[in-house]
Amino acid sequence: MADIKMGIIGCGSIAEIAHFPSIDQRKEARLLSVCDVDEEQAQSSAAKWGAEAWFTDYRIMFDKVNLDAVVIAAPNNVHRNIAVAAANAGVNVVVEKPLAVTNSEAWEIVDACNDAGVKLMVGCDRRFWTHNQWAKELVEGGAIGNLLMSRASLHEHWHNYQNHVAKTGFRLDCEVAGGAALNDTGAHAIDLLTWLNDSKVKRTVGVAKRLAMPESYTLCDDTALVIVEFENGAFGTISCNRFSPAVNQATELCGTEGTIFTATDATNPFQSWPMAVFTNKDFTVDTLPQILKDYRWPELFWVEDIIDEHVRKRWVPICPPRRPNNYERMTEHFLDCIINDKPPLVSGEDGARAVEVMCAIWKSMETGGWVDLPLTEEVIPPYYIPPPKEA
Ligand SMILES: NC(=O)c1ccc[n+]([C@@H]2O[C@H](COP(=O)([O-])OP(=O)(O)OC[C@H]3O[C@@H](n4cnc5c(N)ncnc54)[C@H](O)[C@@H]3O)[C@@H](O)[C@H]2O)c1
Repeated sequence: MADIKMGIIGCGSIAEIAHFPSIDQRKEARLLSVCDVDEEQAQSSAAKWGAEAWFTDYRIMFDKVNLDAVVIAAPNNVHRNIAVAAANAGVNVVVEKPLAVTNSEAWEIVDACNDAGVKLMVGCDRRFWTHNQWAKELVEGGAIGNLLMSRASLHEHWHNYQNHVAKTGFRLDCEVAGGAALNDTGAHAIDLLTWLNDSKVKRTVGVAKRLAMPESYTLCDDTALVIVEFENGAFGTISCNRFSPAVNQATELCGTEGTIFTATDATNPFQSWPMAVFTNKDFTVDTLPQILKDYRWPELFWVEDIIDEHVRKRWVPICPPRRPNNYERMTEHFLDCIINDKPPLVSGEDGARAVEVMCAIWKSMETGGWVDLPLTEEVIPPYYIPPPKEA
């Protein structure tokens, strides 16, 4: 059994909810060291999760402890410097989403990791929900024909996370976070849609604005609407906000021969199952994709299924197993990538391209039109103050 020595930098909410417990479950890994600028937090996380060492400065941690991998779960503005330091120390990295705030920061992380030959994965956990993985498998297997139009939304009030879960107020501070609806919740939606479409974004247009909260609360955007055109010609829309008290999240994939819905984080009023698939293809009982075979109910009313020589066309509601959860699967996957030298599912390039979309929307707000990707200059989101580069 491998012994992957891990560290976590930033022991706040997502480390506590996702990363510490997921690492704790893995036999092939152990938490060796933690780091947080808040000394009490670093100490208490180390004690709670059994880390041998704790630090308040990641540079000292990289100097003193020999780590195989680190999870960077600190605020957005420090992702770049910490990830580059990790790469320079020869440590494999998971960086929480968004990979960075500006497109230049993001590509600097990618380059540093490539140059150092370390693995880089972005913490876009939506790709590790079983519903989304099955949607991807069905799309790739052709169950809904040509995917031409899709949308991903994530609507959730500031207060939900900020008042009940977050350890610090960094999300409200635009100088540090560099945005909210667009690069916090939007980071998930942009990544998910791009992955499901299996194509890069060619150009984008959209808006990101603060509509709901007063300036005294935050300067960050709370409303974001984005249209993307993919290189393969398909279109997608992304809709995120930070003012809906009822959390709702949905992904809808419209193909020429079917439609798939997934909802992984919340219940929508029209939804009784977390996933639903309709295919118009003439599948027989034998050719029906296994996922649909397993979840059609009644399991097989054979007369109905042979009467037209193909199975009856109807919505198939699907409730995939909950365990292992998305974060457990993400951690297991990253460790497997290290041990067996595989490419991570959410690559650094994927993360950087998602940041490009976010930055392109700020550009689009200035020009009022479509913005082509890749960007040709660094885009610094409104109010964001990039910290001085350490390396
Ligand atoms: N995948 C997801 O769904 C998800 C959910 C929440 C947060 N996140 C991401 O994770 C990151 C952290 O968010 P959070 O909600 O856990 O924040 P948080 O405010 O709860 O915690 C951040 C922690 O980082 C520490 N910190 C700040 N600067 C640091 C530095 N330079 N070095 C070490 N530690 C430092 C803080 O003291 C705090 O303990 C953000 O990038 C956020 O976008 C992702």
